[in-house]
Amino acid sequence: MSGEIAVQDKVAYISGGTSGINLGIARHFADLGASVMVFGRDAAKSAAAAETLRPKAKGRMLGLAADVRDHAAVAGIFAQAAAELGPPDIVIAGAAGNFPAPAAKLSANGFKAVVDIDLMGTFNTFRAGYDLIRRPGVMIAISAPQGTRPRLLQSHVCAAKAGVNMLVKCLAMEWGPENIRVTGISPGPIEGTEGVARLAATPEMKAAWVDRQPLRRMGNLADIAQLAAYMVSPAASFMTGAIVPCDGGSELA
Ligand code: COA
Repeated sequence: MSGEIAVQDKVAYISGGTSGINLGIARHFADLGASVMVFGRDAAKSAAAAETLRPKAKGRMLGLAADVRDHAAVAGIFAQAAAELGPPDIVIAGAAGNFPAPAAKLSANGFKAVVDIDLMGTFNTFRAGYDLIRRPGVMIAISAPQGTRPRLLQSHVCAAKAGVNMLVKCLAMEWGPENIRVTGISPGPIEGTEGVARLAATPEMKAAWVDRQPLRRMGNLADIAQLAAYMVSPAASFMTGAIVPCDGGSELA
């Protein structure tokens, strides 16, 4: 059956899975019976994140270290994960970098750092995943409302996430015939994440942000994790190339 996949007994590799939204997805998938490999730049943080997934898990958990900007490093840990957990059914590109900065004050290297982590990092993760992923398989990029809406102080992130959105659509076209679905999630502000802490540094900034949200609240980790589980499930087997907003209406405001 075309594109069919469920979380239980599947193998998921998740970049940026050591914290925030991506760790939330990793935890939900682990609780549903998947084996999960999470990775970030920091080996100790990656190992600690995998440890937090173990208590309820039926599958096996692995925490490895690679910088998503380095394709060879990502391919290297994917080979290691494949040897230990088996090839992935699910690949999630969640690693991201963000800080608020006016373009006039942003150095070329600052712009590049975010484009490299978000856009190159997504390509590197998906490209390394392509070589191993089982068919049928599913890839999810974690995008952002900045991918479709221009924002002040976010030129670097808007450019990078718009690229991520287009990459998802192009890969969905190229890899669909091989039974690989390529999709994206566009989370709005999610409570307790580093991203929100960076973009709303004070309670006043946070309150003003909530006030601009049509649903008048920030999201939580479960909002995104449950959507990710749906997107890799048989219920979504006809979905590819879609970047699904789960943002309390951020994209509209
Ligand atoms: N404002 C303006 N420029 C900034 C900046 C800020 N707040 N933070 C970093 N930069 C610039 C640096 O000055 C540097 O440019 P320069 O060499 O011209 O001075 C460039 O960005 C790279 O900085 P560096 O700290 O060397 O990069 P890094 O690769 O170690 O880190 C970042 C990448 C900058 C994106 C860092 O914030 C990061 O690692 N983020 C990951 C976590 C995260 O952002 N989570 C939220 C996700 S939504």
